Amino acid sequence: MSWLTALLVLVVVTAALLRWRRPAWYWMTFGVTLAVLRVTVRYASVMDACGLTVPPSRWRLTLARVTNRPVPNSRPPRILRLRPTRTGLALRLKLRPGQDAFDISAASDRLRHSFGMYGVTSRELRSGVVEVRMTGYDVLRQVQMPAKVDRSPMRVPVALREDGAVHYRDYREMPHGLTVGATKSGKSVYQRNLVAELASQDVALVGIDCKQGVELFPLARRFSALADNPESAAALLDALVSRMEGVYQLIRAEQRITADVPDAEIAADIWDLPDDLRPTPIVLLVDEVAELALFATKDEEKRRDRIITALARLAQLGRAAGIYMEICGQRFGSELGKGITMLRAQLTGRTAHRVNDESSANMAFGDIAPDAVLAAIQIPTGMPGLAVSGDSSAGWARIRTPHITLRQAVNTCNRHADRTPDLPELAAFRPMLPHLTAVPAPAVETAPAAA
Ligand SMILES: Nc1ncnc2c1ncn2[C@@H]1O[C@H](COP(=O)(O)OP(=O)(O)OP(=O)(O)O)[C@@H](O)[C@H]1O
Ligand SMILES: [Mg+2]
Repeated sequence: MSWLTALLVLVVVTAALLRWRRPAWYWMTFGVTLAVLRVTVRYASVMDACGLTVPPSRWRLTLARVTNRPVPNSRPPRILRLRPTRTGLALRLKLRPGQDAFDISAASDRLRHSFGMYGVTSRELRSGVVEVRMTGYDVLRQVQMPAKVDRSPMRVPVALREDGAVHYRDYREMPHGLTVGATKSGKSVYQRNLVAELASQDVALVGIDCKQGVELFPLARRFSALADNPESAAALLDALVSRMEGVYQLIRAEQRITADVPDAEIAADIWDLPDDLRPTPIVLLVDEVAELALFATKDEEKRRDRIITALARLAQLGRAAGIYMEICGQRFGSELGKGITMLRAQLTGRTAHRVNDESSANMAFGDIAPDAVLAAIQIPTGMPGLAVSGDSSAGWARIRTPHITLRQAVNTCNRHADRTPDLPELAAFRPMLPHLTAVPAPAVETAPAAA
C-alpha cells in the first residue's frame, strides 16, 4: 500500500512541478485529460449558471404533459465537437433557437472561471455554429511556435495568438503593415522574425533602418538593398518607384486583351504573369520611420517630402507590382507632417506593441478598431513582444512573437544568402559585405600599446 501512496505523491509532485515550470508539458501530460473531464462533466451545469441555456420548447412541454413525464430541463447549446489542441481545447457548439454568438462571447470570462481554464475566446464559424477556444495556460508567457505551421508564398507565421493559434503575416491578403510601439516594446524583434521567415522564400528584401543600420545591416546577406540614413533612403525609394513603373510596363505588355483570352487570364498583377516572367516580389522593411519624416533645414524638408511622396506612391500602387511594405515606428501620426495620415490609411495590417499613451495606440487602431486601443494601452511593461494585431475588418487579437536573437536571425539569413535576388534597379544599394572578403580577425586580441 505504501508504494502506491509513494507513487501517487510522486505523480502529484511531478504534475505540480510541471505546471509551475513547464506549463506546456503539464498541459500535454496531465492538463488536457483533466480539462476534458472537467468540461464534459460540468458542461450542463456551467452553461446553466452562465445563463447560456434556453427553456424547453413548446412541443417538448406538450410531449411531457401528454406522456405524464416530469417537465424537461432547459437545454444548453449542443456540443458538436470537443477537440484537444496543443495549448487548450476547441469546443464547437450548435446554438439553440434564440441564442446568438454574442451571448457566448459575452459569457467568455464566466466560462473561463467555471471551467478553470486560462483564457476563453469565441468566434462564429457559420450561422448558429460557434467555436469556443480555451487555453489551458498562458501561451504568450513563453512563446513556442508549433513544429508544423503552414507556409505558403508571401504568407509567413510571425507570432502566436492568445488563443494558441498561429498568427500569420499574409502579404497578398494585407499588402502593407504598420507596427507602432514605445521604445523597447519589441518592434525590431517582430521585424526580425519576419525577415527570418521570409529569408527562405523567393522574395527580395529591401530595408531602411535609420538607426544607422544596427538592426538590419547584420542581416545584409539576405537583403537586396539597404539604406541606413534618410539621404540614401530617399534615393532607394526613388529607385523602387521606378522599378514599380517598369513592372507595370511589363504587366501591360503581357495583358494582350483579345476576345479569346478568358477573363481570369488577363494579367492585372504580378501573380497573374507566367512564372518565368514574374518579377520577384519585394518586401520593403522600414524601421524607425519617424526619422524619415523629421527635418531641421530647408534641404532636409525637401528630402522629407520626397521620401513621404515615394512611400505614399508605393503604398498606393505597389501591391499589384509585388511591392509590399512593413513600416515600424514609435509613433506615426499627423504630428510628423503632411502626407503621413494619407500614407497610414494605406497600411491595412496594424500591430501595436506596448504604448505609453492612448494617442499612440490611436495611431494604429483609432481609425479601424477602437476597442483594440484599450487592449494596446493595457500591455504591461514586463512583456516585450506582446502586441495587439488588427486589420480593417475590425477584428483584433493579442499576439506575441517568439524571441529570436540577432544571432539566430543572422544565421538564418546567411543560410539563405543564395536566395538573395539581384535587382538591377537597386544594384547601387546592394549592401557591401566587408566581412566576406576581410582578412579574418586575429584569434588573440593584442593589448593596447602603453601610453
Ligand atoms: N517576443 C519577445 N519575447 C521576449 N523578449 C522580447 C521579445 N521581443 C522583444 N524582446 C526583448 O525586448 C528588447 C527590445 O526589443 P526591440 O529591440 O525589438 O524593441 P524596439 O521596440 O525595437 O525598441 P526601439 O524602439 O528602442 O528600437 C529585446 O532586446 C528583447 O530582449
Ligand atoms: Mg527597434
